[in-house]
Amino acid sequence: MATQEQIRALLESHAEGDDKRFTAVALQLAAQAARNGQSRFASELKHLVDSMRSSKNNLKTTTLDPDVQSSLGDISSYVSVSFPNAKLSELVLSEQVRGSIQRLLLEQQQRDNLKLHGLCPDSHVLLVGPPGTGKTSTARVIAGELNLPLYTVRLETVISKYMGETAAKLKAIFDFAAISRGIYFFDEVDALAVKRTAENDVGEMRRVLSSFLQFMEEEATESIILAATNNPQLLDPALFRRFDLIIEYGLPDSKGVKSLIQNRLANASFSRIAWSKICEDAFNLSPAEICLAAEDAAKDVILSGREKITTEDLSSALAHRRSIMIHYAK
Ligand SMILES: Nc1ncnc2c1ncn2[C@@H]1O[C@H](COP(=O)(O)OP(=O)(O)O)[C@@H](O)[C@H]1O
Ligand SMILES: [Mg+2]
Repeated sequence: MATQEQIRALLESHAEGDDKRFTAVALQLAAQAARNGQSRFASELKHLVDSMRSSKNNLKTTTLDPDVQSSLGDISSYVSVSFPNAKLSELVLSEQVRGSIQRLLLEQQQRDNLKLHGLCPDSHVLLVGPPGTGKTSTARVIAGELNLPLYTVRLETVISKYMGETAAKLKAIFDFAAISRGIYFFDEVDALAVKRTAENDVGEMRRVLSSFLQFMEEEATESIILAATNNPQLLDPALFRRFDLIIEYGLPDSKGVKSLIQNRLANASFSRIAWSKICEDAFNLSPAEICLAAEDAAKDVILSGREKITTEDLSSALAHRRSIMIHYAK
């Protein structure tokens, strides 16, 4: 139910011609309704707000149009929307990681069926692992496979030094997520939910963390809240309990190295490759680095007017990537 405060805000903003405030309050009401299980009322409100906006701005606002950035309203300055058509088959993953993603997709695809039995699909997911192992790619794949928009939260613009502003922005994102089904991706979430320690125990950061924890606690909506981190050890332990599923990414095994290179260079021709040597050369490199090395090798071959990629091409490209990594990791 709308509170007196909200009704007053609606009337005032209407009288003052303050469209921004009017839609913000209306969306807040829709989000509240969604959380109270009144999903039909929530989506009616959401449609009314969308059509009001589109008639005002003459903008396309259907959630499946790539031009919807502006329909995000207030949150458009810190959330970007995209419509990736990435597929799970494009990623090289361990059986375990692939299995977890497949299960997540299946639960979402069968969510009505699960709900009939009083069960909810997993909706709060944390991706953990070193840089370049496929976490951001997985966000794109989940959106692509489920045919849902990917809302990427730009945390660097969410976090503000002004009292209360970060929490207010987070609330606006979670309100939006409650009524617009999609994948909400909080990349490098450690920026937001870092552990409380003696040094960083600043009042404002504590408030930000506790409001984030509170939003994460809210009943699952139709959306998926996806977070990723390279530094799980920095996260506040209380955050882990908020996730239904934690997926851990790692470096590829030798079969993975071979698949990464072959997938990336699907159109290239190879001479006989000594894969066991290549796997040794790729030891400890991330999938991202291996893909880049594969591309370097293919470019070398083209630029020197040759046709086939050799073991030597791949080997030296991997060595080059490793030297860059060692140089910058210092
Ligand atoms: N598991 C993977 N399978 C295939 N390609 C990958 C994988 N991980 C990373 N890549 C490649 O590296 C790039 C960067 O990976 P990304 O998903 O951004 O890593 P992360 O978010 O874990 O740092 C991707 O665009 C993709 O080309
Ligand atoms: Mg990433």
